[in-house]
Amino acid sequence: MSARGAAVLLAVLALLAGCKRDGRPAPGLQGDPQRGRIALTQYACHACHVIPGVAGSEVYVGRPLEGLAKRKFIAGKLPASQANLVLWIRNPQAIDPETAMPAMGVSERDALDISAYLLSQ
Ligand code: HEC
Repeated sequence: MSARGAAVLLAVLALLAGCKRDGRPAPGLQGDPQRGRIALTQYACHACHVIPGVAGSEVYVGRPLEGLAKRKFIAGKLPASQANLVLWIRNPQAIDPETAMPAMGVSERDALDISAYLLSQ
């Protein structure tokens, strides 16, 4: 690699590192929002939801997942808190047996990271 190429690579790495620092969870939140954003795409949550910061087509099977930090209720049922959001993401039927959202085997850690991301939007 040329010296110039190496310099460009270093600049990109520095930028990426900067992004990671900016991606710290909001105060009082647990989990890693940057990891959560990736997990959201791995579980294909955007197949049914419009999600801020996650590219995808406009699908409105579920409501857009924006402004969750300002909500009073999750899915109109659960008082909004990070712990309840994790519960919903892991097992929506346990909260609302008739919801169309499937349980997708989301691990505890992934659900925590996803909730950290959604609550930071
Ligand atoms: C097959 C479609 C589908 C998929 C895939 C899906 N959801 Fe949902 N989701 C829904 C539907 C439908 C609702 C509305 C449930 C309700 O309000 O009763 C919902 C509701 C929600 C809510 C509550 C929203 C609100 O406005 O209160 C959250 C949070 C949520 N989903 C997160 C996720 C996450 C995170 C994933 C990925 C792990 C995911 N969903 C995957 C269909 C889906």
